[in-house]
Amino acid sequence: MKFFIDTAVVEEIREVHSWGVLSGVTTNPSLVVASGRNFHEVIKEIAQLVGGSISAEVTALETKEMVAQGKVLAALHPAVVVKVPLTPAGLGACAALRAEGIRVNVTLCFSVNQAMLAARAGASYISPFVGRIDDINGNGIELVREIAEVYALHDIETEVLAASLRHPRHVTEAALAGAQVSTLPYKVFKQMISHPLTDKGLDQFMQDWAKGSSKQAK
Ligand code: E4P
Repeated sequence: MKFFIDTAVVEEIREVHSWGVLSGVTTNPSLVVASGRNFHEVIKEIAQLVGGSISAEVTALETKEMVAQGKVLAALHPAVVVKVPLTPAGLGACAALRAEGIRVNVTLCFSVNQAMLAARAGASYISPFVGRIDDINGNGIELVREIAEVYALHDIETEVLAASLRHPRHVTEAALAGAQVSTLPYKVFKQMISHPLTDKGLDQFMQDWAKGSSKQAK
């Protein structure tokens, strides 16, 4: 499973990218506003930094405007993937952008039927929102599992991009459910890497080394 980071904060992206684990970045209008940066400038900077797949979301509600915005976003950098919402207008925009050779991430997916429609419209990625389903007492990981199963059954190439993951257990479960990609906030990357036994073990190794290192130098 590939990892994307879900943020528009360049410092966070730079740090996780330095670990050698990032295949892309997802953003949405809320994340771009929270970053305080100009939309196109920050997308370009992120794309130059990471490459891979950088999702940038349209903010129009009608197909024609979505397609126009999508073309502008795609022209910023070859790594840009245009993100459109799972609405009738979004599906139309997905098909039109795909016809122009532009990759599309269809977002705000909450059902298998929506995911099948997005695949038909030519989506490169489908983004089921796991945490937001859990928020209303549903089972977000089960949705990821069902989409992955249906896509596999019908040889659909659209990649399942598990989104709205809120904690490390979500990441493990998304991988077990068959997601090809998970997008995580910076905080979840930090939680994933940390383990008290790693810290304790390293501390012990360093202490022992300090005690005996004078002998090693001779
Ligand atoms: C994904 O592309 C979305 O930007 C994101 O994962 C939404 O997460 P949230 O439900 O925690 O806002």
